[in-house]
Formats: sequence, C-alpha cells, structure tokens
Amino acid sequence: MIPTPHIEVDKKGIIAETVIMPGDPLRAKFIAENFLENPVLFNKVRNMFGYTGTYKGKKISVMGSGMGMPSIGIYSYELFKFYDVQNIIRVGSCGAYTDEIDLYDVILVEEAYSESTFAKVMAGIEDKILKPSFELNEKLENAAKDLNIPIHKGRIHSSDVFYRQNFDDYKKIRDEHGCIAVEMESFALFANAKVTGKNAACLLTVSDSLVTMKATSSEERMKSFTNMMKIALEMA
Ligand code: ADE
Repeated sequence: MIPTPHIEVDKKGIIAETVIMPGDPLRAKFIAENFLENPVLFNKVRNMFGYTGTYKGKKISVMGSGMGMPSIGIYSYELFKFYDVQNIIRVGSCGAYTDEIDLYDVILVEEAYSESTFAKVMAGIEDKILKPSFELNEKLENAAKDLNIPIHKGRIHSSDVFYRQNFDDYKKIRDEHGCIAVEMESFALFANAKVTGKNAACLLTVSDSLVTMKATSSEERMKSFTNMMKIALEMA
C-alpha cells in the first residue's frame, strides 16, 4: 500500500489492532521502551513516534496524537481508515473543573462535550456531545477495578482553546454542560471512530486544576501517569 501522508508505513499488519495514544510523542516512546516487549519504531514523520511491541504476549501499538483536535483528527483517521486499527485508547492529561477532582486522579471519559465544529465539518455530525465505545469503557472500568485503581467517570469538555482570555469561562461550560474536566482531543477521536465504525475510549490523568490553580511537575506527571497506563495496557 501507499503510506498515508503522516504515517510512513506501507504494509498492513505493522500497526496493531489496538493503539494506545498519548498526546506527547516522547511519552509514546517512553511507554514503548518501559512497558512493551520488543518495541519496533514504525513512524517518525514529524517526530510523531509510533511503536509496535507486545504486552503480556499480545501485540499492541502506541503512537503520539499531538495536541488538539486537528492533530488527533489526522492521526486517528489514518490509523482507523487505512491501517485497519480497530481500537484507539487515548491516554491524556486534563484540567479539573471541580474541586471534587484532585491532581493525579484518573478519569474515564463517558462523554465529550465540545463547541468545536470538527464533527460537523468532517461528516455533518451536529451532535455537541459524542460518546466513546461502551464495550471499551466497560473493559477499562473492569481493568481499573482489578488493579485497585480508583477512577472518576463523567463528561469532559474537549476545548479548541487552551489560553482563554476570560479565564472564568470554564465555570459556565462546567455549569451549563456538566463537564468535570477539560482536555483538547477526545471529541475528534470519538467523531472519527463514529465515522469509520471503529472503537475509541479515553483515560485522563488530572495535571492541573482550574479551581485551585494547582499544577503538577513533569516528574510527578510521569509517576501518576503510570496508573492510567496500567489500566489501558491491562485492558488491551
Ligand atoms: N490538558 C491538561 N490541562 C489542560 C487544560 N487546563 N486545558 C486544556 N487542556 C488541558
């Protein structure tokens, strides 16, 4: 096959059926090198590293998505549409919208609300709330239970803007749409899964709080991020 514009793989079967997708490509490298057996690099176009290896004997891939809906929109579409990927599990970070959620907590996304036009422009989908795969979520929840890792479940906000000039906007979005946290990718990932008939899910670790203004160091993030990774890998 001809490689896609953003992934330099010219054969099917190089990328596993299930792809774990952090935003940061260096985190994909870290996951591959620390959690997978025999990781092989399959993509370095734009430094968006992708690896395939095995976890407990099962073939699995991990690849960065970049930040924001346009970026994850491109990579997840190419994986679903051209490389026969069936499942994408995003493992990202988020900002807490309520004081019931602490730094480092893990959230399993049940719904993504967005004011983004991604789904409408892409496929005429008018919904402002998109859902992940029920089956993947059930498996992720069971994996978290088996590992004794507590999780929150709920609706999150997929935002196109990180630096809002009116900081307090988040309160309106939280109160009107029932969002417990904010990130910038899930809505596009779920739209692509819907359009291609594939499965997507999203686990998030809280890296900052818009309520308390607390934030994590990169070292602390790496540590806390391990819980989320364990859930995703155990499920896969
Ligand atoms: N990802 C992590 N923290 C975030 C925030 N505060 N806003 C948007 N995306 C985020």
